[in-house]
Amino acid sequence: MVNGIATPFVTMVIADLLGVPPEDRETFREVIDAAPPPGNMQAEEAPTQFSPLEFMAGYFARYLAERRAAPRQDILSELATATYPDGTLPEIEDLVKMATFMFGAGQDTSAKLLSNATRYIVDVPGLQETLRAEPKRIPALLEEVLRLEGSTKATFRLARRDTTIGGTPVKAGTRVLVALAAANRDPRRWENPDEFRLERPRILEHLAFGRGVHTCAGAPLARAEVRVILEEFLARTRHIDLDAQHHGPPGERRFEFEPSFIIRGLKELHVTLEAA
Ligand code: HEM
Repeated sequence: MVNGIATPFVTMVIADLLGVPPEDRETFREVIDAAPPPGNMQAEEAPTQFSPLEFMAGYFARYLAERRAAPRQDILSELATATYPDGTLPEIEDLVKMATFMFGAGQDTSAKLLSNATRYIVDVPGLQETLRAEPKRIPALLEEVLRLEGSTKATFRLARRDTTIGGTPVKAGTRVLVALAAANRDPRRWENPDEFRLERPRILEHLAFGRGVHTCAGAPLARAEVRVILEEFLARTRHIDLDAQHHGPPGERRFEFEPSFIIRGLKELHVTLEAA
């Protein structure tokens, strides 16, 4: 589910929207597949690691220069031709950072959301039958999974001035790790926070996509692409199950998660599908 379906699907979606030429997409996928997940806790020395985003930067610089000369109908063209309020064009190098970041940000996160959601669909009693009968409830499912298992565990801020957060003094220059996953299970905010509830009141107040000016730019895309693929999965199957050989029987499931302090996601998810 993760490596065979979710990751290739979301990579193709973002590549298509940005305007990455089809002939380069397979190369990007191989490079991303080969790299450890962001926030890898098993890496020896993070700065010396091979970065897929650096590898892709050369390609994106070329795409953006081509779009600036001859715009097309894609997001890269919009970036290449956007201007500052005074009418000047940004340096290509700055756009490369935005474009590669957007490409990278749309990979693991959405792919992990699909597999995190599938676990609940299979193991919450009656849930897949409910969703198959009423696919319009899939968005509610996704929000509750984002709260419980949002694929980004943390985001970061740099304090620009001395301040106080929740009673803790924070000096200017301090880097702050904001544990979104912890806030999303805070018992002061969520009743029985570890429990899955399909229709939780005010569910959209979860912090899985962050908050404020830097809130996730891809949230609508992530919601749409995972909803669409789940709709298809449910419509084309009579039953979805987890492969007990890999994950054990219900009640005694075993999962292996990515060793990352940023990404919350399964390394693998083996499902069995009974065709409709
Ligand atoms: C389930 C999927 C996703 C999750 C859980 C997620 C989560 C996040 C989080 C937590 C942030 C930081 C927000 C903050 O610091 O306040 C973020 C930022 C961002 N995300 Fe996502 N994301 C997802 C999918 C995507 C996709 C599909 C794209 C690609 C289009 C994307 C593009 C971005 C960008 C560009 C930013 C930076 C925004 C900024 O700094 O202004 N994300 N995301």
